Amino acid sequence: MDPVTDPAAPIRSAGRYPIGATITEQQLLNDPYPVYRSLQEREPVTWVEELGMWWVVGHGQVTEILLDDARFATSSPASVIRGTFGMQMLSAEGEQHARYKRAARPAFQPQAVRTGFTDAISRLVDELIDDFAGSPGVDLRAAFAAQLPVRTILHVFGLPQTAAPQLRIWYDVFEKALANFSGNEQIKAAAAASVAQFHAFLMVGIAKVRGTTDAGFLAELVNQPDERRLTDEEICRNASIIMFGGISTVEALILNSVWTLAMHPQTEARVRQDQGLLPRVIEEVLRWQSPVQSATRYARADVDFHGHRFRAGDTVNCMLAAANRDPAFLADAERFDIDRNPLPRHLAFATGSHFCIGLHLARLQARIALERLYARLEGLTVDAPQQYCPRGYEFRQPDRLPVVWRPRR
Ligand code: HEM
Repeated sequence: MDPVTDPAAPIRSAGRYPIGATITEQQLLNDPYPVYRSLQEREPVTWVEELGMWWVVGHGQVTEILLDDARFATSSPASVIRGTFGMQMLSAEGEQHARYKRAARPAFQPQAVRTGFTDAISRLVDELIDDFAGSPGVDLRAAFAAQLPVRTILHVFGLPQTAAPQLRIWYDVFEKALANFSGNEQIKAAAAASVAQFHAFLMVGIAKVRGTTDAGFLAELVNQPDERRLTDEEICRNASIIMFGGISTVEALILNSVWTLAMHPQTEARVRQDQGLLPRVIEEVLRWQSPVQSATRYARADVDFHGHRFRAGDTVNCMLAAANRDPAFLADAERFDIDRNPLPRHLAFATGSHFCIGLHLARLQARIALERLYARLEGLTVDAPQQYCPRGYEFRQPDRLPVVWRPRR
């Protein structure tokens, strides 16, 4: 009998989901791709016992859930994002979500991003490279990739660059809180204190730009016409997700790109000759080494999903990185190949109403960063790249990435 219609059928039993019952967080940290593959072959919807959540790994079914706001919510009392940042764009639904996104969207449209930020990002990139270009090598993560997104987002908001070290410290506290699935009280308290400090910092910025014609996203938000304006508190909460959503994601995109090219020396050599290939490289890296592994949803009520029953409130993790390598979506999906034509529509930025607002800013930073790194550091590569494989359960990137280049004569 169909387990959905048979009330006696065990809903999440290990017998029904044998692969899900054996998945460990350690496996996912190191290399989730074999797990994704066997799930796609035999268990595309599964209950992952160790994480206490459903996983969906097929491109079609992930897309279906992300487009179905009626049955799946981005937020629940259990959500660590809402617990950390309060109610903001990624946790809000319906009209509240639309209102938050409407207020923020103009600054992040492709044209606004290109004309508004190309020069500033190029300058920030060059300043960072200046600091290490004279040496024979560097850890690209610490010296470059961890810093660029922080400096960029401060510039976008119109906030002082002197805040960069403090922003990074807050971010590191938030990152722990966003992975605090066991509800550790100390981690929660540290995050609450950092959120309070961050809001106080922003309130100073808000007061400074109110009623002015200053440039910058914060001034734009604060000085919107009445019908669109968010309260100061709403600005602070949404600023948290916008600022901190664009830090380790962009860091990972840059590092995963340099690492992937080093793993594919022929493509790396082509890129050195023709920087026009970089947008293709970036899209294929987003698909093949997705910085964000999943988008979390919660069943609003009991849901029958392709023969599986999700209970109201259940966590359903849409595995974006798995979907991006789904053989039913793309032939030879395990292979990194910048010559696919057309490039596949990956889900690295998700889809649906919560589709990433910062994707154009992320792509622009990655493109300028890679252009300048490969142009200025002749022969840039990673020695023994196999040792620096991306790692991580939710965000994946190399822990560190020592790069080398030919010294200038
Ligand atoms: C490579 C870089 C990035 C990746 C891979 C990425 C990935 C994602 C994904 C997968 C989501 C959807 C989450 C969900 O539906 O549950 C998302 C949403 C979001 N991202 Fe990004 N992101 C990136 C860069 C950025 C940047 C630079 C910003 C800030 C400017 C940003 C801000 C946001 C915000 C505010 C949302 C929530 C949108 C909404 O709820 O409507 N992201 N991102």
